[in-house]
Amino acid sequence: MTKTIRVAIDGPSGAGKSTLARSAAARLNFLYVDTGAIYRTIGCAVRRRDIDPGDRAAVVAALPALDIGLTYGADGLQHMELNGEDVTAEIRLPEISRYASVVSAYPEVRAYLLEMQRRLAREHSVIMDGRDIGTVVLPDAEVKVFLTASAEERARRRMLELQQRGTPEPYEDILRAIQERDWNDTHRAAAPLRQAEDAVLLDTTELDFTQSEEALLRIIRERAGL
Ligand code: DC
Repeated sequence: MTKTIRVAIDGPSGAGKSTLARSAAARLNFLYVDTGAIYRTIGCAVRRRDIDPGDRAAVVAALPALDIGLTYGADGLQHMELNGEDVTAEIRLPEISRYASVVSAYPEVRAYLLEMQRRLAREHSVIMDGRDIGTVVLPDAEVKVFLTASAEERARRRMLELQQRGTPEPYEDILRAIQERDWNDTHRAAAPLRQAEDAVLLDTTELDFTQSEEALLRIIRERAGL
């Protein structure tokens, strides 16, 4: 069996991790795993059951009944299933972002998802993105990248994306939501967002998409010896 290569990409929300990781994975013929989508699926389950996300005991009690499925459609895109139902679109609702951010702070939730993420990386060469991939999930990954951009630039990109989708939101609101999620992700006790010591820092504040993708591919090829 040929050796699989693991690429861990961590960074704050809105840094372009998923778009860049998906595109780089397609170029390299690796599987792209969006772990944020898995946390979002838990957030979605909590919301559907009318559980207060701040009620840790209630969230943890709900976990055993959840059947989280990750599949790849004919389009090659990652789809999330919750107890057999496709929730790929629903997990992108802004309300679910907030739920996911709160429930992902619980160590029990993280432990529940750990093996699922590791299994994916054993079976395929992957580019996996999240917050703790290089630090916790795949500490031995061949390539680790910490992908970031300033909060203002991330808010600006998000604003343009929402405008294009026909669901505009004020810049100040977007920036505030990003700052709030950054704070939650970096200040939680369980697996907080931080750059692994052996991760390469890629700051895309001043880079466009093509430049960012070229930089990412260069790092991966160099580090993985491709
Ligand atoms: O990347 P995203 O915005 O889809 O992630 C949703 C939430 O899940 C976000 O608040 C951070 C959390 N998350 C996490 O704690 N660990 C991961 N590996 C991925 C996401």
